[in-house]
Amino acid sequence: MAKIPFTFAPPADTDTPFSMPTLKFAVLAGDYIGPEVMAEALRVLEHVAGQEGLVLQHTAADVGGAGIDNHGKALPDSTLRICESSDAILFGSVGGPKWEKLPPKEQPERAALLPIRKHFTLFANIRPGLLYKELTAASPIKTDRIPEGIDMVCIRELTGGLYFGKPKETTTLPDGDLQAVDTMIYRKSEIERITATAIATARTRKHKLCSIDKANVLETSVLWRKTVTEYVAKHAPDIELTHMYVDNAAMQLVRGPNQFDVIVTENMFGDILSDEMAVICGSLGMLSSASLGAGKNSLGLPFGLYEPAGGTAPDIAGKGIANPCAQILSTALMLRHSFGLDRAASRIEVAVKKAVTSGSRTADIAFGGASIGTRAMADAVISAL
Ligand code: IPM
Ligand code: MN
Repeated sequence: MAKIPFTFAPPADTDTPFSMPTLKFAVLAGDYIGPEVMAEALRVLEHVAGQEGLVLQHTAADVGGAGIDNHGKALPDSTLRICESSDAILFGSVGGPKWEKLPPKEQPERAALLPIRKHFTLFANIRPGLLYKELTAASPIKTDRIPEGIDMVCIRELTGGLYFGKPKETTTLPDGDLQAVDTMIYRKSEIERITATAIATARTRKHKLCSIDKANVLETSVLWRKTVTEYVAKHAPDIELTHMYVDNAAMQLVRGPNQFDVIVTENMFGDILSDEMAVICGSLGMLSSASLGAGKNSLGLPFGLYEPAGGTAPDIAGKGIANPCAQILSTALMLRHSFGLDRAASRIEVAVKKAVTSGSRTADIAFGGASIGTRAMADAVISAL
């Protein structure tokens, strides 16, 4: 498995000018294909750093199954400390068959990701749903419905709702029956801050925002809709706001994903809809995500966690065939959101698009045609840079 250097920094004897921006981030590669794609993403990032005059200062730490195996828990304290002293987290993916027998609460996905989200108040999960025109055959949607590919963004609230609301427990009733409860709960202020993120994203695009809820049934959704409406009216009259019930949204995503520009929704709905969006975008190997915190990093920008959407793919781990693009694109999101380096971020995004559309493809996006491995894919991106 690919080895990631513990830290990367220019040798002390180079005369690096003091003004070169230093990117201080934690590297949590995780399990199975996590370290493989991470190694390639870092190689691409080092290349961009050279071009843009950036200094990378990253520290690797165990997380997920690697955390369980080496430290006895999915999110070791030492890993959390490293994240705390960084400006961003570049995350791989965690979990897999090796740890599936553990109780649900101790499993890598739940025991690593959820506490990190809560600890750093990573309340805004931004997932671009992007499918290049050249790859529409990878989508399960008929290509005549998406002639230009897909280009939308899902913004999911990530630290509230059913995931974290209390009470959250299973009890035995007096009659001996078992009862479980999860609590869906939202404060107005939580809805306002995710709306602000959605507005900021919509302003970088078509200024169209669709808020998704279940206001015909849920009390939290009534507050959600009212809050989003008032917030947009007051702070963003330039944004064209619409609302949709979640069941209809699930259907509309399949009927015509390009009716959406930016969608914003609560945690559980967002979990489901973002997976639906991912599948209609073809390969999970192409999709990145950013989870932005309420707190600022040492640069005064949002602290964030950046991860590919695809998971650990145990079936192809160790074969050198995983698609590194999602991890590479996640580094672009990190540059943009946590380091304010929009030009460098776009450079990476353009290079990935160029590499893929000009024919360099891993097996997952090759449609049975010629495919290349993880490392060669990263090389193609580097050449395109
Ligand atoms: C995701 C995942 C997580 C979630 C799981 C692994 C806890 O599905 O990031 O979407 O449900 O949020
Ligand atoms: Mn999910």
